Amino acid sequence: MESPTLSDLLLTWYDKHARHLPWRVRGKAKPDPYAVWLSEIMLQQTTVEAVKSYYAKFLDLWPTVQALAEAPSEDIMRAWAGLGYYSRARNLHACARQVVAEHGGQFPADEVELRKLPGIGPYTAAAIAAIAFGKRAVVVDGNVERVATRLFCIGEALPQAKAAIRVATDRITPQARAGDFAQAMMDLGATICTPKRPACALCPLSGPCQARAAGTMEAYPVKAPKAARPERAGAALYLRRDDGMIAVRTRPEKGLLGGMTEFPGTEWVDAGQYRQPATVRQFGRVFRRAPDPVTHIFTHFALRLDVYFAKVENEAAPPEGCRWVREESLLREALPTVFVKVAKAARGCL
Ligand code: ADE
Repeated sequence: MESPTLSDLLLTWYDKHARHLPWRVRGKAKPDPYAVWLSEIMLQQTTVEAVKSYYAKFLDLWPTVQALAEAPSEDIMRAWAGLGYYSRARNLHACARQVVAEHGGQFPADEVELRKLPGIGPYTAAAIAAIAFGKRAVVVDGNVERVATRLFCIGEALPQAKAAIRVATDRITPQARAGDFAQAMMDLGATICTPKRPACALCPLSGPCQARAAGTMEAYPVKAPKAARPERAGAALYLRRDDGMIAVRTRPEKGLLGGMTEFPGTEWVDAGQYRQPATVRQFGRVFRRAPDPVTHIFTHFALRLDVYFAKVENEAAPPEGCRWVREESLLREALPTVFVKVAKAARGCL
């Protein structure tokens, strides 16, 4: 009898040990491409645990791609707030509209067609084609990169190693059950073939794994050294009216946190150029500085924001470009996490 292939070993393991995740269907049930797409967009750069409640909320609010396409974008941004990488939410809406306008509300099954849609890159197109439509597609995410580099001792550094990883993953991807195979690789990477101290004794692929044979599992994947993350700094102003209204404004559509809600404040500049006054005069008020700044890590820089607060009488008009929202309603705004931190810091002072 022929020995089982690598994908046989992995799929047998997956049939027993697959994680039960809300976007997965079991048995013979057919996956809903809309739900698969939604989950894959949310899971980009974000952990399974963080995604679960957002996924449930979105399907509850917008059960179909038509419903999502028709929703006001403010509602979508508000529901996305806290999940980060907000361009994903803008692309989500654009993609839903395009699927309705150009594909009659049905996601295309073909990778090439999928890649023409907003927010769908090579990884997501392959994942949707395989998971939602059962097509053979080569799905490579961070977990798959780790598993593949260990299986075949691919010693080239990432990101240059991506081409070799793709070739290796292509070689082991089966014709049938490519979606299960992809998700099995992800589960293996998330639960067994972990970055530190992989649980090789439990791994269905420990037999064929070249790094396991050499005892060098933790050396993979090799990564090119990262450039240091630059630091930026700025000030955020928390203006509270006596009746509990707070001044907020909407960020420009384009750029970082585009279209999201924020507190007024200064530009974020190179941290070396930033001066930190004890008080700031703005909108005809004197703002005092909260004792601790807020810090937040974005992909391309680390931010330190000084938080300044001031009070203003009830009848005051909002500062230019701003509107008032109730302090208790702030969390229902499209408020990114960095500004949730600012609100907490300021509320401790007022
Ligand atoms: N990460 C991205 N897509 C995933 C999926 N379908 N299952 C588990 N983790 C994932």
